[in-house]
Amino acid sequence: MKVITTIQDMQNEIMKHKTLGESIGFVPTMGFLHEGHLTLISKAREENNIVVLSIFVNPLQFGPKEDYSTYPRDFDRDRALAEAEKVDYLFYPSVEEMYPHESSVKVVVQERTDVLCGKSRPGHFDGVATVITKLFHIVMPTRAYFGKKDAQQVAVIDGLISDFNFLIQLVPVDIVREEDGLAKSSRNVNLLPEERQQAPILFRSLQKAKKAIIDGERNPNKLVNMIKEAISSESDGEIDYVEILSYPQLKVLEKLDGSIIIAIAVKFSRVRLIDNIIFQID
Ligand code: PAJ
Repeated sequence: MKVITTIQDMQNEIMKHKTLGESIGFVPTMGFLHEGHLTLISKAREENNIVVLSIFVNPLQFGPKEDYSTYPRDFDRDRALAEAEKVDYLFYPSVEEMYPHESSVKVVVQERTDVLCGKSRPGHFDGVATVITKLFHIVMPTRAYFGKKDAQQVAVIDGLISDFNFLIQLVPVDIVREEDGLAKSSRNVNLLPEERQQAPILFRSLQKAKKAIIDGERNPNKLVNMIKEAISSESDGEIDYVEILSYPQLKVLEKLDGSIIIAIAVKFSRVRLIDNIIFQID
């Protein structure tokens, strides 16, 4: 595995593989790798000649009061994990390399940001779309792998790829969970011990709502309240949002049918967790 820190070197390496007609699988991350990331990498490994993993904690997608400075980082551990997963290139640029000066152009996401994390994190998806546009130009992948844990991010990247005509196949990957149901996340290490005990209520509340839908409940307000009650009675977390929307359009539903997402965000003392389930109602 080669570790590459400059854009120029990365593009030169990629061009060599492109000339040979090789396919490139790309997994963009912010590092502090866990099994969720590793699942994306192993999928990319199965489906492509070359695998590129990027690790870059992107300041542009963090709000001023968010956790950019406390976001967990451990490059040596990440490098060993990437090597074990047979990554070919680990792209690890500095902030100065990615943003040498104030950008003269940025990408603004116009749709699907008035709900969920887009509403509670203004500018977040502009930061994601801007860095992903740059990374797509640097890595020039055949396929790009994104986790459904960040379901709104998948929908936004889908729009970015089609609106800006990137010749890239988006591959969404299912959520990887701990044994107790908590969605794996780099941020889980910032939960206090008692909060870690409480955190599986996020997934349990989603499952409870799904079961109620299967049993015939179709009132979105009742379902949202059921989830809110479950979370507040079983955790100290402060609910940021609980929403039921169409997926991938992310529109408010008049009537519950078709493909839907139930998505939640809960703030604990040092970390905000998100989770969701996506399923079809017939
Ligand atoms: P990060 O949070 O590091 O996540 C990198 C990728 O791993 C994302 O596609 C995310 O959805 C996926 N992922 C994280 N936890 C997962 C889990 N439990 N199961 C399945 N996939 C999971 O998302 C970002 O970084 C950034 O916004 C980025 C796309 C790199 C742009 O900066």
